[in-house]
Amino acid sequence: MEALKVLKERRSVRKYLPKSVPKEVIEDIIDCGRLAATALNRQPWKFVVVTEEERRKHIADICEYGRFIAQAPVCVAVLCEDTKYMLEDGAAATQNILLAAKAHGLGSCWVAGHKKLYAQEVAEYLNAAENDKLISLIAIGYPEQEGNPPKKSLKEVLCWEKC
Ligand SMILES: Cc1cc2nc3c(=O)[nH]c(=O)nc-3n(C[C@H](O)[C@H](O)[C@H](O)COP(=O)(O)O)c2cc1C
Repeated sequence: MEALKVLKERRSVRKYLPKSVPKEVIEDIIDCGRLAATALNRQPWKFVVVTEEERRKHIADICEYGRFIAQAPVCVAVLCEDTKYMLEDGAAATQNILLAAKAHGLGSCWVAGHKKLYAQEVAEYLNAAENDKLISLIAIGYPEQEGNPPKKSLKEVLCWEKC
């Protein structure tokens, strides 16, 4: 799909078809994540792909606003080494993953990680090193239903030269 179309048409998907995602597609999506912009080129990230149903269900049980991870065939955890810009770095990688998923005809949804009380529990469940922090979780799968939340208009948010 054309890049700008992907950017403009991506929306969070929280309902997925029961259809698995080919491994090479998942790998390509993660490849896009690891190529994101990163402060000082630290690339502090690690991406843990969880496809086993039992493991996804366990994560879904922990994440109160990510219950749909149980139904999505793929869940990606973005972890970053505890560095000054880990949140920005992890967020940039997360957004790349959402867009790459869309480009592959998949739906996805960002599930909060870092600021949540469950962040450490999820990181431990994934066997993360103590210095690796959970930044986000991303549910991915073929979309059954796509959201269409209201968006601010360009006019509301664009200023030239001054606010
Ligand atoms: C930092 C961050 C955390 C989010 N956490 C959740 C979450 O825990 N659960 C969820 O369903 N959606 C979550 N979202 C998705 C937002 O709800 C969604 O992006 C927003 O409503 C705009 O909709 P759109 O993605 O369709 O444009 C999160 C998004 C961001 C950027």
